[in-house]
Amino acid sequence: MKKILLSGVKPTGRPHIGNYFGAMKQFVDLLNSDKYDCYFFLADYHALNFIQNAEEMRRNSLDLAIDYMAIGLDPAKATLFKQSDVSAHTELSCIFDTLVTMPYLERAHAYKDATAKGKEINVGTFNYPVLMAADILLYGTDAVPVGADQKQHVEYARDIAQKFNNAFGETFKLPEPLILENVATVPGTDGRKMSKSYSNTIPLFATRDEITKAVMGIVTDSGGDVPANVYAIHKLFRPEGELKALYEANKGKYKALKEALIEDIDAFVKPLRERRAELAKDEKYVMQVLAEGATKANKVASTKLLEAKKKIGVL
Ligand code: ADP
Ligand code: TRP
Repeated sequence: MKKILLSGVKPTGRPHIGNYFGAMKQFVDLLNSDKYDCYFFLADYHALNFIQNAEEMRRNSLDLAIDYMAIGLDPAKATLFKQSDVSAHTELSCIFDTLVTMPYLERAHAYKDATAKGKEINVGTFNYPVLMAADILLYGTDAVPVGADQKQHVEYARDIAQKFNNAFGETFKLPEPLILENVATVPGTDGRKMSKSYSNTIPLFATRDEITKAVMGIVTDSGGDVPANVYAIHKLFRPEGELKALYEANKGKYKALKEALIEDIDAFVKPLRERRAELAKDEKYVMQVLAEGATKANKVASTKLLEAKKKIGVL
């Protein structure tokens, strides 16, 4: 029996190279390793905390499904689905709500960061780790490939599984996060973590012009021979041995180094961009993939939910 692997991304806008190298590339590599039975989903109910516009939600969800397939998540090998198509996720989340305390959720980084900024957060954001635990635990997941910022959420899923198991008997498997340390946090064009919310991204499916604009905007603090922010992004696209020689030969020539980075990103992105454009021509097919994925995911998730409902005594 293969191990189970599951991960999700929120459909909150175009993915960037931080999402790709931090998480999505691992999805493809692990799928192709043939070691896992893989589930990849669109976390649309999680995205609803950020996007409250029906048209935008629909568009983003379809786009992310296309993105998944364009990077190489083959629907013939992996189950691709939308969270909201599998109602077991929200139902299990509701059961888990009764097992976790408010002080426990108040320790979540995302909650602490939001309140530190003086934001009045909604209950969906507060409950974010509980829904995410349900996402993971419904499938008997062994491994969850994510970027470093999601590590705590996977720990919450483990804790919640344990709480349920202690209260009602062995039901949920404890998942492990899979985090690649060298790309755990990809820096953005301003040197901070690359993130949709900081406007410091290089979109994964960027056009040549968008790549040029983003790279030319990389903050270079003058002084050193090597522009640190340019180098940090460049090493995602070229082996460090080669890169050292390039940066040695172009000491202090920031413009030339940025131009070399544009070439390297474009060479990498071009085939992805082309595959994406091809897939985007047939949205019906993409919707059909999601529908088939939902049927498969529902089978697994509803069986687990049934087991949990029996354990708690509502069945
Ligand atoms: P964003 O911060 O841009 O909104 P998401 O929260 O949608 O990104 O993250 C989707 C996935 O990409 C998660 O697994 C997350 O850990 C990973 N990720 C996001 N930004 C980065 C980054 N800068 N470096 C590494 N991984 C990242
Ligand atoms: N919280 C994740 C993110 O922001 C998305 C997500 C939701 C997820 N449910 C998940 C990731 C379950 C892995 C497993 O990127």
